[in-house]
Amino acid sequence: MKRLFVLKKIMERRISTIAVFIMVIFCTIIVAGEASAKHGEKKEVKKAILLVAFGSSEESSQISFDNIDKKTKAAFPDVPVYWAYTSHIIRNKLAKQGKILDAPEVALGKMRAEGFTHVAVQSLHTILGEEYDELKKVIDSFKYMGGFEKIILGYPLMATQDDIVKVIDAILKNIPKQRKANEAVVLMGHGTPHPANAFYAALMFQIQLKDSNIFVGTVEGYPEIDDIKELMLNKKIKKAYLMPFMSVAGDHAKNDMAGDDADSWKSLLTKAGIESEAILKGTAEFDDFINIWIDHLKVTLSHF
Ligand code: CO
Repeated sequence: MKRLFVLKKIMERRISTIAVFIMVIFCTIIVAGEASAKHGEKKEVKKAILLVAFGSSEESSQISFDNIDKKTKAAFPDVPVYWAYTSHIIRNKLAKQGKILDAPEVALGKMRAEGFTHVAVQSLHTILGEEYDELKKVIDSFKYMGGFEKIILGYPLMATQDDIVKVIDAILKNIPKQRKANEAVVLMGHGTPHPANAFYAALMFQIQLKDSNIFVGTVEGYPEIDDIKELMLNKKIKKAYLMPFMSVAGDHAKNDMAGDDADSWKSLLTKAGIESEAILKGTAEFDDFINIWIDHLKVTLSHF
């Protein structure tokens, strides 16, 4: 009986908190609505796209960004395209070289000032990890502030099962032509302590149903290169092609994957008797991957 009473009290408190929360949101919407509509007139729809990448300090990564930029503008010729970068380490590093890149909140602030009403924000990240979560917080805060009439964040490369199927197709289409069936392809994902790290193993499981000598490892998560090496040794694989499973072939691809240090993937595999050849091309250099991001943008823009 006493427990029931306590439970009732908790419920009451919770309901009143929810009521206050709803009221605050309501007031915000009314204030924002009044500010955006001049004397009841409806604002003219002005759409824009904001592409958001992690960023890279490697000069060569610009190829990837330029490629996405070009493909996006070709797919949506009437919508202006803006860029922002989520990594503050990269932004700070480039600022010291005189290259000022916008953080998502800065880019959105500028776009709001320019009078855009509908913004399609497209994450160019690979999985729904930390960077995506942070970006989502920024987008949500603009939603609550009533900054735009509509602002929608598109999924990264691999978010749904449908995406995994498309990613597998893109990988199979773009592995080196000279690769023989008994040779391995090892993809290097970034990896993360975030729960979304599970996507890498999920991808490996599903791609191996189509080609059992393709492996997916990560630099900073699971599976690690040692796990992949064991799997390859068990299958007596003698040669492997190493490819980044990151949008740009940046620092991780050049050093951790293809570098000459003893702990690079190339060195570790070579030492284990697996001849390794690195392909320094990020996923954003291949149209088949870019099309997946563009498909996500199409879904967003269909809501405007
Ligand atoms: Co990293």
